Parts: sequence; C-alpha cells; structure tokens
Amino acid sequence: MTILCVNIDHIATLRQARGGVEPSLLAAARIAEKAGVRGITVHLREDRRHIQDQDVYDLRQAIKTKLNLEMAATAEIIDIALKIGPDMVTLVPEKRKELTTEGGLDVAREKTLLKNTVSRFHQKGIPVSFFIAPDLQQVRASAAIGADIIELHTGIYVNATGKKQQTKELGKLRHAAKLALKLGLGLNAGHGLDYQNVIPVANIKGMQELNIGHSIISRAVFTGLDKAVKEMISLIK
Ligand code: PXP
Repeated sequence: MTILCVNIDHIATLRQARGGVEPSLLAAARIAEKAGVRGITVHLREDRRHIQDQDVYDLRQAIKTKLNLEMAATAEIIDIALKIGPDMVTLVPEKRKELTTEGGLDVAREKTLLKNTVSRFHQKGIPVSFFIAPDLQQVRASAAIGADIIELHTGIYVNATGKKQQTKELGKLRHAAKLALKLGLGLNAGHGLDYQNVIPVANIKGMQELNIGHSIISRAVFTGLDKAVKEMISLIK
C-alpha cells in the first residue's frame, strides 16, 4: 500500500507572508496526522523562505508519525539536521532563485559529498533518501553510494502534455522504480502530484510513500473557505 506524507511548507509560506504565528504549522501537522497521513515533510531551505529552524525543532517534539526533513547537503543544514534528528532526511538539490525544487540530484557528480553526508546520518541511525530524476544511472549511483531510499521526481510526468507524453514519462518512473526495488532501495515519489495525476504514480509496483504538498494545501483553502467565511459573518452581524 502506498502511504501519504504531507509536505506542509506552504502553511509556513502563508505565515511568513505576515511574519506572525498564523497559520500554525503545529496545528497543520496535527490535523494532517488526525486525517491519516503517515508522515510530515518539511524543507528547511538555505534561504529560509518558509520553514524556519525553530519549526523543525518544534515539529520534532510534536509529531507522532514521522518527520521527513528535506534539505540540501550543505554544512550548515547538515549540522542542524543532525542536532534535530528527524526520522529520515531527503537530500535535494537547491538553487536560491528557484520557486520550488526544480530537478533531481546529480548523484554521480556529487558522489563524494553525498557519500560523506550519508555516512554522517547513518552514524546517527537516520535513513537517507535521494531525490532523483527517474533515470537508471541515478538509481544505480544512489544505491552504490549507500542511499537507503530514492524519491523519484515526478515533475516531468506531471507537466507532460498529452496522453502519449504522459505514458512515456510514467514508463520512465516505472522502470526506475523497478530497478530501485531490485537494488534493495526504498521507493518514494513526489513533486507536483495532484488529485488528477496521482493515481498512476500511487499504483507503480512497490511504491511506498508519496510526498505531496502544494495541491493538498491549495485544496484545503477551498474546502475550508466556506466555513471560514460563514464563521466570520456570524461573528460580525
Ligand atoms: N518531494 C520533494 C523532494 C520536494 O522538494 C517537494 C517540494 O518541496 C515535494 C516532494 C512536494 O512537491 P509538491 O509541493 O509539488 O507536492
């Protein structure tokens, strides 16, 4: 069975827009856990555009499922992650100007850095996932340098236009997934998954976890807006 881990970065994006404490990240995590997610994912970016260091410390204390920390393999963030001790980390590439994580890791090119990073987390008993494109070479390189899990980047699949292109991209995800399982890697996926495109990815044989953020938080605005407006009207009339 494929399980859902919700990425709550954009609750923090909304909070940072006003620089206050609302909406509360901890409340969001609690609601998501109560609704049945199996993990909470946050990305502590180098530019701290949404999630702040204290958020990760607070979530570590509060959440009852598992905390997946997405992060770039930089000295500063690695030190913070080792102090906090999430249940797992997902290593991602990070460019300061991007709106969201744009591509997967180039595992072969970053071999030494990633190998050292994996070994530091393993010393603390923390499993490491690599966020990679559905590319067989990247899957092999991930296994070779000791990743426990790969998270397949679904961005190209979700942006594919037309049935033919979508099927082709889904095929790449399936092939990469098959190889990952053969090599003994855990298998996750995410990026851009929404209510229209998620099912074929969830159905990939051996798929364990999906990390989904933007579409769930966006939908939550509309599933909750009606109630929020009615509550305010009833207060002011
Ligand atoms: N997985 C990884 C590694 C990501 O970087 C992101 C975006 O933060 C996601 C999953 C979630 O993507 P989305 O917000 O598009 O669902």
